[in-house]
Amino acid sequence: MLDLKNYIEANKDRFINELIELLKIPSVSADPAFQQDVLNTADSVKDKLEKAGCDFVEICETPGYPIVYGEKIIDKKLPTVLVYGHYDVQPADPLDLWDSPAFEPIIKKTELHPEGAIFARGACDDKGQMYMHVKAMEYMTTTGNLPCNVKFMIEGEEEVGSESLGWFVKNHHEKLANDIILISDTGMIANDIPSITTGLRGLSYVEVEITGPNRDLHSGLYGGAVANPINILSKMIASLHDENNHITIPGFYDKVEELSRAERDEMAKAPFSLDSYKKALDISAVYGEEGYTTNERNSIRPTLDVNGIWGGYTGEGAKTVIASKAYAKISMRLVPNQEWHEITELFTKHFESIAPEAVTVKVTPHHGGQGYVTPINTIGYKAASKAYQTTFGKTPIPQRSGGSIPIVSLFEDELKSKTILMGFGLDSDAIHSPNEHFGIFNYLKGIETIPYFYKYFTELFE
Ligand code: BES
Ligand code: MN
Ligand code: MN
Repeated sequence: MLDLKNYIEANKDRFINELIELLKIPSVSADPAFQQDVLNTADSVKDKLEKAGCDFVEICETPGYPIVYGEKIIDKKLPTVLVYGHYDVQPADPLDLWDSPAFEPIIKKTELHPEGAIFARGACDDKGQMYMHVKAMEYMTTTGNLPCNVKFMIEGEEEVGSESLGWFVKNHHEKLANDIILISDTGMIANDIPSITTGLRGLSYVEVEITGPNRDLHSGLYGGAVANPINILSKMIASLHDENNHITIPGFYDKVEELSRAERDEMAKAPFSLDSYKKALDISAVYGEEGYTTNERNSIRPTLDVNGIWGGYTGEGAKTVIASKAYAKISMRLVPNQEWHEITELFTKHFESIAPEAVTVKVTPHHGGQGYVTPINTIGYKAASKAYQTTFGKTPIPQRSGGSIPIVSLFEDELKSKTILMGFGLDSDAIHSPNEHFGIFNYLKGIETIPYFYKYFTELFE
């Protein structure tokens, strides 16, 4: 593929501008106010897939947001790569913390992105990374370098739990039949330290509600004599970790896969600087489960975190009040073998059991999903590794991520195929945060690396 670098060089401004256009549409799946924008984004993705050389593209309606499906089948005897990505994005809030508006993309240089990065919600997660595949497809079809069959499945509900996609996959086994699933929706260690994501954590997400008295009360007249739901909720949450930052829910760790010393030693070889980690976050110390390193804590160990907590008076000034109710949203990141429904149940039972008689507890499960680990002795992994080797000049490091893409384990159960996670983002790209961005280097390197994956995968496939 001698022409690949030239093709990218000749077209890179257009590639960047097309991504910028896509990023201008605020496809926030969580907020119904953006419904029309989410739908418009699906239409735009359909149009781009057609232009990139798919023979057949359709918008598949679902009970929720549509799935954009596209394909180019060149020979049934050749392998089929199924590309998955998402066109929806996280809400941009809090808006005032953005240095420039979230849906008005701009290019700025940063320390880690000296060639510039595109700043916008979805730049890295996942429009930028998804669009690398569309542009790699364009290259392969227009230059006669497509070595196998391709299917695209781009959804609009990843950031809210992929419920419609689960339904779609269960009902379209034949349409989605493939030999390997390829996803760019994760990260890598650094621009000069390529890595391939070999694991994702599972997730159980719940909301809790504590109710005390039947109405908000004067905190002087009643304070001290009735349970304050916010005090109680804080106590209950605090008790979910012990002094070693171990989670106290009975049975929580029962099925956790324990890695051998040898596997942990292997993991520890990945380059990592605790100093830079702390500096990047402006913290003077890390914090977490006793007995595990930072990289272990955020990948092979399960967690429990409060994502939001509210109740009572939070407006200007002071109001003396004991609220009737207090709430929190809690996520548990899970590791292989922990079953998310079971963990949700263990949490619910335990949380109800630790509440004093003076309050009532309601636990509402949200979404969840299983973790995923991919073996590195498959032709899919080997093809990906060789692709990075070709374009970065370095063998990529296999590394488990702490994030979740719950649909990946469902792909394996339903479609019986493995997923390769070729992510090109950096942890510092601020996904889900204000000032999300994606390096121009990363974007173009992704477009360059993907066609090699197709080439090597087809060669290794017999
Ligand atoms: N792309 C992310 C997941 C991710 C990011 C995995 C970086 C590994 C490295 C995805 O869009 C995401 O945000 N997933 C959610 C879960 C989902 C059910 C809302 C997450 O991990 O919080
Ligand atoms: Mn994503
Ligand atoms: Mn995300």
